[in-house]
Amino acid sequence: MSTITNELQIYKGLEGIYADTTTLSNVNGKEGILTIRGYRLEEFADKASHEEVIYLLLYGKFPNKQQLKSFVEKISHLREIPEITINLLRAAASAKNHPMDALRMGVASLSIETGEIFGDVGRERNIEVGLRVIATLPTMLAAFWRFKEGKEAIHPRKDLSHAANFLYMLTGQEPSSARERALTTYLNTVGEHGLNASTFTGRVIVSTDSDLISAVTGSIGALKGPKHGGAPGPALDMIFEIQELGGIDQAEKYIRTKLDNKERIMGFGHRVYEVRDPRAYVLSHAAKDLFQDRQGFYEFVTAIEDKVIKLLEEYKPGRRIQTNVEFYTALVLHGVGLEPDIFSSIFAMARTSGWIAHDLEQLENNRLIRPRIKYTGDFDKKWVSVENR
Ligand code: ACO
Repeated sequence: MSTITNELQIYKGLEGIYADTTTLSNVNGKEGILTIRGYRLEEFADKASHEEVIYLLLYGKFPNKQQLKSFVEKISHLREIPEITINLLRAAASAKNHPMDALRMGVASLSIETGEIFGDVGRERNIEVGLRVIATLPTMLAAFWRFKEGKEAIHPRKDLSHAANFLYMLTGQEPSSARERALTTYLNTVGEHGLNASTFTGRVIVSTDSDLISAVTGSIGALKGPKHGGAPGPALDMIFEIQELGGIDQAEKYIRTKLDNKERIMGFGHRVYEVRDPRAYVLSHAAKDLFQDRQGFYEFVTAIEDKVIKLLEEYKPGRRIQTNVEFYTALVLHGVGLEPDIFSSIFAMARTSGWIAHDLEQLENNRLIRPRIKYTGDFDKKWVSVENR
């Protein structure tokens, strides 16, 4: 939405503004096409390992066999977290912090081992730091979650994939291949998505010649909010609340009540997409596979989706509010066996490689990001001492 103030065009929320160019991804909001490094999302998301996608984001192409082997080995050796981080996460768990706050503090604590870094330390050094963040974030999250449950943390394993190792550290058990695949597909699907709020935050931070750890820390803070990464938990609540009320026949009344109360329906609407989010397409297929054994559940969820879309068109005609990535994220992550409180942190785990790839791209051709803001307050007021105010 843009408004004109004294002949100045104001783009509230920077909507529609292009701040730079990128070779990372193209978000085609009109047709619902997401292209990552030249590949349509549907081309690889449910086939590639997450390590291949991290490589694609950082180096611009999928690795060959040898490159993948050494990359996987490299990441798996970076998974252990420092003692000081473990202690911090234990304290965050006893303070009942939100997992996103725990992750933000955990990632920030990695500065203890990097020492002083400022922006332009070279691409290789930055990739080293970035890979350390990518490799340790799942370890931090699993450790924090276990501390919260009064359990001890489990050391990472080097022989498991990014997704399988995370689920192993969380539960103490190797996941089934179906769960490993579903989580991997999720991580691949949401790894990169243009200049969203958290990615923008990171680019702003590195543009000042700060450092990568500060940038990821800031990105996590931006992702925490329900308008960005915090929606899937409430989306899942809605599905179960409708189920408890008696099933699909109760959906319309339930959704109408929310809309009448001016509440937003989580998992719907997007700043860029005017059609169904392509990530919802990939994740709905992953959810269908995952819920094969739970008869009628997948169909129940798609029927809720249809109802919400119909009612949003009635309440907000012409707005084209469609399903976004978070609706089916909720379903896939639930199917993987995860609890809603951890969903936004799994999103952070996935998006870290996208953030870092953007931060590196920003540094390659850096210009300080510094927009302006139009002052609309008073001028020429006079100082009055406190006794006379
Ligand atoms: N439910 C009900 N109404 C909605 C919804 C929704 N999910 N989304 C938008 N609207 C309505 C707003 O109430 C507003 O109506 P009004 O102008 O009559 O007041 C209008 O549509 C436009 O809303 P904005 O917030 O201005 O649009 P914006 O482009 O900023 O919205 C957003 C994007 C924040 C994602 C919004 O659709 C929303 O809040 N959705 C629910 C939360 C959600 O699912 N977040 C995850 C987004 S995906 C991601 O970040 C990975």
